[in-house]
Amino acid sequence: MNKSPDGQRMEKIVSLCKRRGFIFQSSEIYGGLNGLWDYGPLGVELKRNLKNYWWRVMVHERDDVVGMDGSILTHPAVLTASGHVEGFSDLLVDCRTCKSRMRADQLVRKNGIKQCPRCGGNDITEPRAFNLMLETHIGSIDPRSGLTYEMPAADLTTSTIQPGIPPTTSDSQLVDIKRPAGEVVALVYLRPETAQSIFVQFKNILEVSRKKLPFGIAQIGKAFRNEINPRNFIFRSREFEQMELEYFCRAEDGMKLLEYWKEERLKFYENIGIAREKLHVLIVPDEERAFYSKGTYDIEYDFPFGRQELEGVAYRTDYDLSQHQKGSSKPLEYFDEETKQKFIPHVVEPSAGVDRTVLALICEAYSEDQAPNEKGKMETRVVLRFHPRVAPIKCAVFPLLKNKEKLVAKAREIADLLRPHMFVFYDESGAIGRRYRRQDEIGTPFGVTVDFETLGEKDVALRDTVTLRERDSMKQERVAIRDLVTTLTSRIR
Ligand code: GAP
Repeated sequence: MNKSPDGQRMEKIVSLCKRRGFIFQSSEIYGGLNGLWDYGPLGVELKRNLKNYWWRVMVHERDDVVGMDGSILTHPAVLTASGHVEGFSDLLVDCRTCKSRMRADQLVRKNGIKQCPRCGGNDITEPRAFNLMLETHIGSIDPRSGLTYEMPAADLTTSTIQPGIPPTTSDSQLVDIKRPAGEVVALVYLRPETAQSIFVQFKNILEVSRKKLPFGIAQIGKAFRNEINPRNFIFRSREFEQMELEYFCRAEDGMKLLEYWKEERLKFYENIGIAREKLHVLIVPDEERAFYSKGTYDIEYDFPFGRQELEGVAYRTDYDLSQHQKGSSKPLEYFDEETKQKFIPHVVEPSAGVDRTVLALICEAYSEDQAPNEKGKMETRVVLRFHPRVAPIKCAVFPLLKNKEKLVAKAREIADLLRPHMFVFYDESGAIGRRYRRQDEIGTPFGVTVDFETLGEKDVALRDTVTLRERDSMKQERVAIRDLVTTLTSRIR
């Protein structure tokens, strides 16, 4: 079947990601695991630059936001109070014809009849709820032998933990997990979102940070969902990262702050190089919004496979803190010193996916143009036009020739000069044109070449200057080595 231009583009992107070390399938040599991905040397840099920039603008450049980093394994009571145990489900259906399983909302409608998107069959099972949370157990449990020990309920409460004293397990405590030996209480969940640990730590953080409303708590971290159909590369996976801010406020400021954060988040995407015309704001309609939300926007991006959500910005009212106050029987109120009133703050939540944004950055950056090769012949050039702020490698340093000791020594010296300020790649192998192309393909915005002018062999006035090449325009300028750090850092920040 012929692929659409967008389908071909996506294929090229996935292939480049593997070939150049951005993203690999998890456990690939064993056949891979569906919906799980590993980031390679360049992917990890891109992802880190994205997270660092988010942290910079959402935490460091503000005085009303503090950060936290919560545990992934989560007490079941937290996710019971939040509603996830009961309701964090997708509706699942099976196609009896081709045996594929999918979310009910993935069925296509033809002449008013629901059909399987794969085989077109209409013999579909009734939808049934499928909870997306992944669970595990803590404590001395060995699922291979079927042996466990009954964990005292107290192990799940922090008050009984004594620092430095490990819990003891005697043989008499071991029971066969398959025997009806009483409830195994050591069940924990891998968090399905980072938000809940922020709500659960609200009181502690309020006390230590001494912030006044409105203020926010930010977190970046892993989340896990047993997605029915992970797909579109890293767009929908079973293990992913989120960048979430819970911005606590007074009820009367909720709607205003929802608008404010929507605009701030749009600016963020533009500042990492995503074109405004490819970003869209969807007003989530009443019937699709969580029942406690008074307003939700989805920020969407035009991926090659269609317009899809990058981030949700939701006004969640006081639902989360109220639920945890009820569930824990611990007060989670805020005391307003001016009015002497106690109340549960409301919250506005911008919640972004790291992996989806990485994919948007790669899709946005991928381009092909025509450029002359060393012999002057026009060739297709693949370029990742990353904003320098997120580019994995900021600057490549090249000696013009590998076999000229003085050029190599000077180039190495320049790489060392730049390294404390940015991630630099030193490359001396192959023709200079080919070295430029290799960097274009991985999105390195700047290239520094040390040539005979640098050594002052051709013109003493050019001694200790280098060629600085810009990736997109391929323009070259002459820059003094002493100005390189400031020239580059001012263009990268
Ligand atoms: N605390 C709110 C919350 O988690 P969400 O819309 O379920 O809301 C927020 O998730 C963001 O997390 C999404 O906009 C998306 O970027 C990312 N995300 C959610 N599920 C994902 C998945 N299976 N794979 C990759 N990213 C995902």
